[in-house]
Amino acid sequence: MADDANTETWTLDDGKKLTLRHITPDDAGIEQAFVRKLSAKSRYMRFHGTIKELNKKDLATFTNPDPLNAEALIILYKGEKDEDEEEVGVARFVIDPDNQGCEFAIVVADEWQERGLGTKLMQTLISRAKSRGIKQIHGAVLKNNLDMRQFVKKFGFEVTADPDDSSVLLVNKYLGEQSKI
Ligand SMILES: CC(C)(COP(=O)(O)OP(=O)(O)OC[C@H]1O[C@@H](n2cnc3c(N)ncnc32)[C@H](O)[C@@H]1OP(=O)(O)O)[C@@H](O)C(=O)NCCC(=O)NCCS
Repeated sequence: MADDANTETWTLDDGKKLTLRHITPDDAGIEQAFVRKLSAKSRYMRFHGTIKELNKKDLATFTNPDPLNAEALIILYKGEKDEDEEEVGVARFVIDPDNQGCEFAIVVADEWQERGLGTKLMQTLISRAKSRGIKQIHGAVLKNNLDMRQFVKKFGFEVTADPDDSSVLLVNKYLGEQSKI
């Protein structure tokens, strides 16, 4: 990440300033608020189910990833007035037991989608995974998630059917020296 090892800031075309950094346990409140505020569609696409909020265990795991095998990044927006910082996107990976690959998950707040936040999160995840020597990044995408299918296409992921679940596609990208991020 550019600004320092943990934080990057940038400005959108409309002047809104965003910050990307690793998540911490102190972010539990904004992470839960973020999940609650997602549209039912985005929550379904992200969690492959109809949850309304994170349960206690997932909230704890998501905001305190084990540094040995996981990383999670959030994007934050702070309005110009004295508002609290708001989480507007989050992405994570968990390294596979063989240490060769990692599984990712990503979601951007509905009103912030299609403004490059997903791209920033995915680029940073890939760069973090590469820096840890991980050889491939993979995920499971619902077949009817056309936005995500378009999104991963841009990053050059290979898409295959999930032999165990016909509603899911498996997406995988090799992170070789030459891979574009
Ligand atoms: C998929 C998702 C993470 C993309 O995030 P985003 O911030 O909207 O993505 P970006 O703005 O960086 O867009 C990147 C590319 O994705 C594609 N894309 C994103 N949203 C799209 C949409 N609604 N329709 C078509 N293509 C879309 C485009 O190819 C776009 O490329 P471009 O910038 O060259 O036009 C976001 O739509 C999301 O959170 N969806 C709900 C949760 C989800 O599906 N998570 C994935 C679970 S596997």
